[in-house]
Amino acid sequence: MACRKKVCCGASVLEVTLAVLFTLMTAVSVTLIAVMATRKTDTGPEPTLPPSPEPTLPPSPETPHKPYLIGVGRADCTGPPAEIPLMGYASPEQTAAGIHTRLYSRAFIIDDGRRRVVFVTADVGMISQRLRLEVLQALKVKYGDLYRQDNVVLSGTHTHSGPAGYFQYTLFMITSKGYIKASIEPLVKGIVKSIDIAHGSMKPGRIYRSRGELDGSSLNRSPHSYLNNPEDERHRYKWNTDKQVLVLKFTGLDGDGIGMLSWFAVHAVSMNLTNRMVSSDNMGYASYLLEQDKNRGQLPGQGDFVAGFSSSNLGDVSPNTKGPRCANTGLPCDYLNSSCPVGGTKMCKAFGPETTCSTARESSDTTSTVKPRSFMLTQ
Ligand SMILES: *[C@@H]1O[C@H](CO)[C@@H](O)[C@H](O)[C@H]1NC(C)=O
Ligand SMILES: *[C@@H]1O[C@H](CO)[C@@H](O)[C@H](O)[C@H]1NC(C)=O
Repeated sequence: MACRKKVCCGASVLEVTLAVLFTLMTAVSVTLIAVMATRKTDTGPEPTLPPSPEPTLPPSPETPHKPYLIGVGRADCTGPPAEIPLMGYASPEQTAAGIHTRLYSRAFIIDDGRRRVVFVTADVGMISQRLRLEVLQALKVKYGDLYRQDNVVLSGTHTHSGPAGYFQYTLFMITSKGYIKASIEPLVKGIVKSIDIAHGSMKPGRIYRSRGELDGSSLNRSPHSYLNNPEDERHRYKWNTDKQVLVLKFTGLDGDGIGMLSWFAVHAVSMNLTNRMVSSDNMGYASYLLEQDKNRGQLPGQGDFVAGFSSSNLGDVSPNTKGPRCANTGLPCDYLNSSCPVGGTKMCKAFGPETTCSTARESSDTTSTVKPRSFMLTQ
């Protein structure tokens, strides 16, 4: 058995050393705290610094808020418009056969002097991880650490009529018939280009925020599923979908509009699964209308004013405001099974806002009737 050397009062050398060290550390800490406390009180009142000049952001008399630096940009990101399956309805047979509207990526960069954020809303089903990684990689090559994982937000409008094949996951690859390079490249290029344009257009400006409720433009496509939510939770809301629209308006210091960005919860499925044309659907159509209004005389996709209508919590929110009806009778489908007495589920179709069973027109008409409401709200 090891025999420990006793120093005093039955404590070992190690115990004594530790005790001494502990006392020393405590003394040092107390001294440091005391020094810091006295130095703080010694400084007295803060010396008045000369007002720091802000060369890029001139002071504004009407409001005390410091202006932001704001940039907006739009770039085409239309992928291959033929033979490639469309992303959204998960149907490999629904392949592209032409263009209804071109697809765009719209970028917004905001800098408050301390932090910078990039928000992109692109006419695409959704942003895949692969797409995001490729965009971030391209941005890194161009901008180093300026635009990176934690300040770049990419969002898809959720159009169901854009080219598929830009996912790295098997399930998506099955319906898109594989990973398609020709699909992802124009998306990466378009998104990066829209950020480039926004980056190059940055100037001092202001942001106005507006919120409102927009009824009559959306509908819960699964009301019976919604009823499975706890009753006390449902009582907290007026509707069974979120009707809130949030709009950010961007202007220069002269008050001229630079762009606008809005969020509204509705699926971009005004073009249904029989559609074969690449289309930006209702969100893209709303952007088109507002941009045409602001960029007078310019062709679609051109002009400085950028209007982004982006998706939000749109799960189960349909733009087909007349709801599911039986195409043969015009009567509502079976509530639980979405089926019709004659024709079953195949006969049950979503209608609205303007189309009715008897007047169901060209599919392009369904898009043109759905969005003007939210377009008008942002005017
Ligand atoms: C709908 O579903 C319910 C419950 O599963 C079933 O009892 C009913 O027969 C179905 N109705 C139709 C029209 O398919
Ligand atoms: C899709 O839209 C077209 C055009 O409005 C319509 O003729 C067709 O019945 C719709 N199909 C379904 C399944 O809703």
